[in-house]
Amino acid sequence: MMAANGRKIWMDGRMVDFADARVHVLNHSLHYGVSVFEGIRAYPTPEGAGVFRLKEHVARLVTSAWFYHMTIPYSAEEIERAILETQAANDIVPSYIRPIVYRGEPALGVKNLQGKVSLAVAAIPAKKYLGEGSEAGVRAKISPFRKPHSDAIPSFAKSAGNYINSYLAGADAAKDGYEEAILLDQNGFVAEGTGENVFIVRKGELFTPGLESDILLGITRDSVIQIARDLGYAVHEKAISVNELLSADEAFFTGTYAEIAPIKDVGHYGIGTRTPGPVTRKIMGIFAQAIKGGDAKYADWLTPVPRLAAAPPRARR
Ligand SMILES: Cc1ncc(COP(=O)(O)O)c(C=O)c1O
Repeated sequence: MMAANGRKIWMDGRMVDFADARVHVLNHSLHYGVSVFEGIRAYPTPEGAGVFRLKEHVARLVTSAWFYHMTIPYSAEEIERAILETQAANDIVPSYIRPIVYRGEPALGVKNLQGKVSLAVAAIPAKKYLGEGSEAGVRAKISPFRKPHSDAIPSFAKSAGNYINSYLAGADAAKDGYEEAILLDQNGFVAEGTGENVFIVRKGELFTPGLESDILLGITRDSVIQIARDLGYAVHEKAISVNELLSADEAFFTGTYAEIAPIKDVGHYGIGTRTPGPVTRKIMGIFAQAIKGGDAKYADWLTPVPRLAAAPPRARR
């Protein structure tokens, strides 16, 4: 769990003190889980803070909101700017940035299509989702809770409601002493962790489930696919059986919050040597350089955070 603390939160164009960032208890999003959000990181670079893959996160936020019939009253560029302003106002690196689109006014009744759509952006100190030692390997449990089929709740949209499934799986794994759960899809194939995608390595090739396994198309997943292909590895997006996972040479999670975390055990079964394997280590090494601006090939993955004086307030559209 990440204790949420920061200095300022951007709420519909106003930068409010952390303690004053409130919404009404009868808001629609709280009762029905209809809000969409992103998890983004800012990292220290030699030129100051850089937000990792800002455009891709904002694009996914806009798509998620569109799918849930929420018209965000800001353009993608305005959302990007709100994120950069929030990062600058909090001046925390590394940080975890959380933009959320929600209906915050009191309104009960599920089919709320009229309620005012709001955007808030927070930036808090970043921690590692799977624990501080997670880069050395984590223990995961195949969850008894499966991912809902996308006919029920589409996985490509990052809605708050999706996370009751992640919560159940994560709580079950934590109570059994594991760092993470691996959820299967409705066909019994590996889908993802509670907040990460899954990769396996077999005979020097990488495999990761695709959208048909009801995953979130992770932005870290995309970064890792690019890095792996640039290193010359074949990467296959395909359904992965539990059999393939348990007998993999290497396996790892990817996610903004978790970054890259090797999987050393799945239940009682050790994966490979139970230590980060050579392919995982190579990719982790390049990723670690890329996020701190140390690899020119991936320089455009980081958006510099301008040191802002207070930005002029913007009118709501
Ligand atoms: C369910 C789920 N899968 C995968 C991911 C990884 O996505 P990303 O790499 O964009 O953070 C996340 C994190 O947002 C997630 O919550």
